[in-house]
Amino acid sequence: MAQQSGGQIDTVMQEARLFPPPAEFAAAARIGSLEAYQEMWDEAEADIEGFWGRLATEELHWFKPFTKVLDWKSPFAKWFVGGKTNACYNCVDVHLGTPRQNKAAIIWEGEPGDQRTLTYQQLHGEVSKFANVLLGQGVKAGDVVSIYMPMVPELVVAMLACARIGAVHSVIFGGFSSEAIADRNNDARAKLQITADGGWRRGSILPLKETVDEALKKSPTIEKCIVVRRTGTDVNMTPGRDFWYDELMDAAAAECPAAELDSEHPLYILYTSGSTGKPKGIKHTTAGYSLFTKMTTRWVFDLRDEDVYWCTADCGWVTGHSYLVYGPLANGATVLMYDGAPNWPDEGRFWEMIERHRVSIFYTAPTAIRSFIKWGDHWVDEHDLSSLRLLGTVGEGINPEAWMWYHRKIGRERCPIVDTWWQTETGGIMMTPLPGAIPTKPGSCTKPLPGIVPEIVDGNGKPVAPNHGGMLVISKPWPGMLRGIWGDDERYKEQYWTRVPGKYLCGDNARQDDDGYYWIMGRIDDVLNVAGHRLSTIEIESALVSHPKVAEAAAVGRPHEVKGEAVAVFVVLRGATASEALKEELKKHVRKEIGALAVPDDIRFTQTLPKTRSGKIMRRLLRDIASGKAEVGDTTTLEDFGVLAKLRENEE
Ligand code: WTA
Repeated sequence: MAQQSGGQIDTVMQEARLFPPPAEFAAAARIGSLEAYQEMWDEAEADIEGFWGRLATEELHWFKPFTKVLDWKSPFAKWFVGGKTNACYNCVDVHLGTPRQNKAAIIWEGEPGDQRTLTYQQLHGEVSKFANVLLGQGVKAGDVVSIYMPMVPELVVAMLACARIGAVHSVIFGGFSSEAIADRNNDARAKLQITADGGWRRGSILPLKETVDEALKKSPTIEKCIVVRRTGTDVNMTPGRDFWYDELMDAAAAECPAAELDSEHPLYILYTSGSTGKPKGIKHTTAGYSLFTKMTTRWVFDLRDEDVYWCTADCGWVTGHSYLVYGPLANGATVLMYDGAPNWPDEGRFWEMIERHRVSIFYTAPTAIRSFIKWGDHWVDEHDLSSLRLLGTVGEGINPEAWMWYHRKIGRERCPIVDTWWQTETGGIMMTPLPGAIPTKPGSCTKPLPGIVPEIVDGNGKPVAPNHGGMLVISKPWPGMLRGIWGDDERYKEQYWTRVPGKYLCGDNARQDDDGYYWIMGRIDDVLNVAGHRLSTIEIESALVSHPKVAEAAAVGRPHEVKGEAVAVFVVLRGATASEALKEELKKHVRKEIGALAVPDDIRFTQTLPKTRSGKIMRRLLRDIASGKAEVGDTTTLEDFGVLAKLRENEE
């Protein structure tokens, strides 16, 4: 869509197609016209505190009302000051005694085809019991609980049970290695671990407990480990440390009142990659996050009680937190949750599930859509997708052609598509076409939601004109914003609030077109987006350099048909001889250090890395080489011109 070259951001694509909201959809939507949207946005922008304050009073349950909407001592925000509430109560208890009490909260399906349904009342029962289990294991409000699990209902139960007692959950994606788990556990000083004996993936078993056993050897703060039986795998259980989930649940009391927590009580930490080697623990808190995810879910997905809503994200990522758990449940939705691969037992699995469960809202990632396209239309054509009424995407920009395929093949030209731009840090969706109000342009996340005030600025923080690229910043605080980086206020200030003083720097470049539509143009830092997963090049480089045969390494992204970006690395060896076997060894090493998601696609060995006079690796040059581009840009600052030729010799 766009690329960065020589510090300039060039737009290489102009998309002119415009798709108005389908009339039938707009007629029934809560926000049903562009005018209605604009009015709401203007009202919110004119009085941010009044807007969110009113919604907080109307939409959240308060044990004690707040006395002040916002306490903003830039860059530290406190929302709904003085109030007492509980995120779990707002997702579960609020539906008891209403017609939703016996409605399905979660319809769950496992990869082997096993199914379970939990009504709101049943969910309440499970969560209350597990909250008692946690209390019984000595977990107190403010303690961090680390969760490394497959996508089973117990994962949602565990998250909500933490929220219920004020424990802070830190969910770690099941694809991370034991080293990555230990790093996160230590940074968070996590006290208790929750995992499963194993998980299903394309018919095989992932040895989750084994990975956790390794991690716990290096996680001294973890005292106890609770294990869910999922695959029936024979696992090691350390006496006094490890306990079976089901046995603890059998013994637990049924009632556990939700703790009355301060609005700013921490709800969770979620680690994400930034521009340094150390993942950042993004901190979200109780009231603001609950309100923001509830409202954005309602506006963006226009949820109804009759909907079957399917978000395919894993709870190891923020999308799973905000749009599988907190947002939809607060709205009393019926959520479909799937634990498995999209191509098991065959490539038609998702479409077969949509048909069988009569899914009406489907929210997935562009990388998945590109896979579906590659697998072939016949997998889709075999299924009745007439239950669908709304489609969504998240995680990266969607290529206009993939958008058109999604629109035609899956949406059958009936369903609006919400391309949602947001981040782990923002807590919830910031920009997206409201489905009944904003005409879509393939590849654009269109306009900000009410209460969200973005700007595009140049290097001096000055707004840029339409059609010029610049840094995307958010200029007013919002309730779902991160409250900091766990244990590192300085890094929080430095990373997000310093380069453009007083404004939130999201790290993405963007431009606005003549209609005021936003187009995201990629990162300003060395963060890659591989299959919708954020990875920092420095993390991968650090992992490589920790191998005894590696002297130096540089990681860059290159375009990839399905994953969006693939990881390409350039490696300088420490006396060792380059070989295919060594490439495999290095891939294995990265898998061990970070996890399968970070394994490089290409490895090239080189004598030296191209560097500027100040010693900075010339990443642009390496990116050009990695993507096989003919010209390699301005090389006058190269320390050693010979390096270029050497790199080229080693091309695969
Ligand atoms: C990118 C995922 C373009 C972006 C919710 C952002 C997108 C990063 C979009 C956050 C989109 C996410 N269009 N780019 N619709 N959605 N991104 O923290 O670069 O895993 O900064 O949050 O993904 O990734 P994260």
